[in-house]
Amino acid sequence: MSDTRLTDPNDRPDDVDIDRALRPQRLDVFVGQEPARQKLAIFLEAARQREEALDHVLLAGPPGLGKTSLARIIATELQVGFHTTSGPVIERKGDLAAILTALEPNDVLFIDEIHRLGRAVEEVLYPAMEDFALDVVLGQGPSARTLRLDLPPFTLVGATTRTGLLSGPLLGRFGVVERLNPYTSDELGRIVTRSAGLLGLDVDASGAEQIAARSRGTPRIANRLVRRVRDVAQVRGTSVVDAGLAAEALDLLEVDVLGLEPLDRRLLECLASTFEGRPVGLGTLADSVGEAADTIEDVYEPYLLQEGLIARTPRGRVATPRAYRHLGLEPPAEAPVLFDP
Ligand SMILES: Nc1ncnc2c1ncn2[C@@H]1O[C@H](COP(=O)(O)OP(=O)(O)OP(=O)(O)O)[C@@H](O)[C@H]1O
Ligand SMILES: [Mg+2]
Repeated sequence: MSDTRLTDPNDRPDDVDIDRALRPQRLDVFVGQEPARQKLAIFLEAARQREEALDHVLLAGPPGLGKTSLARIIATELQVGFHTTSGPVIERKGDLAAILTALEPNDVLFIDEIHRLGRAVEEVLYPAMEDFALDVVLGQGPSARTLRLDLPPFTLVGATTRTGLLSGPLLGRFGVVERLNPYTSDELGRIVTRSAGLLGLDVDASGAEQIAARSRGTPRIANRLVRRVRDVAQVRGTSVVDAGLAAEALDLLEVDVLGLEPLDRRLLECLASTFEGRPVGLGTLADSVGEAADTIEDVYEPYLLQEGLIARTPRGRVATPRAYRHLGLEPPAEAPVLFDP
């Protein structure tokens, strides 16, 4: 099986290979996410000592924070096979049965976007996760029989951008549930320095800080910015990337000082100008900027909310005074009503 997802819609084809090269391979080079990392280190050690499969792990969090990387690291650290698939790809029960029966003892099965598994397929997972068993129905109608097949013990690692969309029974079968959070500037600075080193780009501390500050708390974005800054440095014939060059390159890429890209700014402008500060529903907002509602909710909003640039109200999204100031606009005299009385 192979990866079923492109890494980033903004990536160029050659970036996919670079992305693979930049992926941390072991837990000790995985930067940040301290709480999750420390717990996993213990669980991995315990599973290794007992020579047992690690308990099933659910990794939740916005795109690009390292869910796929951590899943691979788990398999590498356990020295077991790694099988990867994703929710939307497993269409029929038989597809999942084929994957499960091909596992070796203690292998890791990674299901990306696990919240998008079909209901019928998900039900096959319940006995597989709980009892390492596969129920096969033979025949049809009144004469149908269920045959229970044993599966080897394995670790299911699920990744989801939305824990809220997981059914209760599925969520309850994960022994370890870890939420990944946006990275601090310091952590991103370390990732930028490491990635630049791997790409043969000399970035000084001020340059790394500048790139980290515009990476929206996300390693994947940090890596993408490093690659684009590298292009600019190469064309300019600059040997060391300092804050000045990094800022110049990122301005050229239309990534502003808060890390906002054109679509983020369009969202804010839409709220602040087009709708004049009135609360706007997700669907309307999506139509106005020409992007899918899901994408706005999963990819763009978390950072805008985190940065306090937008707020969610019962009647829709509003731009905050900080957003107005960032756009160079005067915030409305009356603060937007955030909650219905
Ligand atoms: N903690 C980290 N340390 C260093 N690099 C990281 C870390 N987390 C992620 N990365 C880098 O960011 C890239 C994206 O990470 P990854 O693909 O694991 O994210 P993801 O959470 O699976 O995203 P998605 O939800 O879009 O699948 C990786 O290729 C890796 O290079
Ligand atoms: Mg992933």
